[in-house]
Amino acid sequence: MHNFTYHNPVKIVFGKNSINKLNELIAPKQKILLAYGGGSIKSNGVYQQIISALPDHQIFEFAGIEANPEYDTLVKAINICKAEKIDLILAVGGGSVIDGCKLVALASHYDGEAWDILTNPTLEFTKAIPLGTVLTLPATGSEMNCGSVISRRSIGAKLAFGNPLVYPKFSILDPEVTYTLPKRQLQNGVIDPFIHVTEQYLTTDINTDIQDGFAESVLRTLVKVGKDIVNGSTNYDTRANWMWAATNALNGIIGVGVDQDWATHMIGHELTAAYGLDHAQTLAIVAPQLWRFQFEAKVSKLAKLGRNVWGLENLEDRLVATQAIILTEEFFHSLEVATKLSDYNIVIEAEKIANTLFAHNSTNLGENKAINKEAVIEILTKAQ
Ligand code: NZQ
Ligand code: ZN
Repeated sequence: MHNFTYHNPVKIVFGKNSINKLNELIAPKQKILLAYGGGSIKSNGVYQQIISALPDHQIFEFAGIEANPEYDTLVKAINICKAEKIDLILAVGGGSVIDGCKLVALASHYDGEAWDILTNPTLEFTKAIPLGTVLTLPATGSEMNCGSVISRRSIGAKLAFGNPLVYPKFSILDPEVTYTLPKRQLQNGVIDPFIHVTEQYLTTDINTDIQDGFAESVLRTLVKVGKDIVNGSTNYDTRANWMWAATNALNGIIGVGVDQDWATHMIGHELTAAYGLDHAQTLAIVAPQLWRFQFEAKVSKLAKLGRNVWGLENLEDRLVATQAIILTEEFFHSLEVATKLSDYNIVIEAEKIANTLFAHNSTNLGENKAINKEAVIEILTKAQ
């Protein structure tokens, strides 16, 4: 196990009616920027619950943060925060709203152009506006991590940043607010956390028993609830287990002391920027082909996936590992999520995607830096 320091400061308030606790979580008289997306929170009652829970606060509203949050939109929110001297940003929505608000929180205490935060990882910050979240879509884990992914459509970019200053101070997770999610977001909400786990688990086998066991538990839960979730089950326990699985997939706990991959995500972000595919769709397309490309390096962990998640009993690692990839693809198909670019009517320009990817990244990708430009082209061609 590699050395590590682990500190996650996010207070999680989980369960039915937990939005009512907002008043206890936010100090009185604070100026709040209530930020949300395209309006789902108005039609499903979440907005009203929030307003009712905060009768004594000065609330400024910022609506319209898009799926794959758009930089140009977020600049408007940054200007409001600076002008109004906002005390706390309350992000209400899925990963896009939360990620967008992380940029707003940090950039509001930065005098340069906010885009620098995405392009210059060496910038140092001392302050961000405190952030709280009400999660409405379990998927990204953004509610309990300090990462953020921002799109800038005018230049075809989708880039990530991370900074400990943007860990939410608190996140409210009420499984009942997920009942209104449409099928496509339910599908995304099972696939994205599944791949978050595999990015941290399907790497080098270095005897990390706790992390592996926890990762397998998250995967088994997603497999157990996945079909019911996608079929719209409103069983509370099913929703609660799904929501908590998605948070644990990317709150750092399974990633301590292990090698991490993330090449599937990096390639996937380019596919979203180029073709507008949902984040999770890109992952379902790229991951199986990437695992096949990296089969030798990942065989031991793929075999663990086969045995401990898919229940395979064959003694031979390579056979189990091969079968584990097939069973994972079949799981995605059982959720009606396609795993080939052609299924989405996309004809890929693999070389162009690879060039753009490596214009944004100066080093090769993956836990052993084996994913170079040629590898990306091969993976995408196989995913066609
Ligand atoms: O905008 P509204 O009207 O609210 O509708 C949203 C949105 O259209 C809708 N929705 C959310 N909650 C709902 C609801 N509809 C009905 N009922 C509800 N309760 O769902 C749509 C999609 O929302 P979005 O936030 O875009 O989805 P998701 O949570 O999957 O976030 C995707 C973004 O997160 C990034 C992705 O790249 C992508 O930009 N990621 C962030 C990560 C992180 N910060 O750690 C890691 C991930 O790997 C990922 O890259
Ligand atoms: Zn993801």
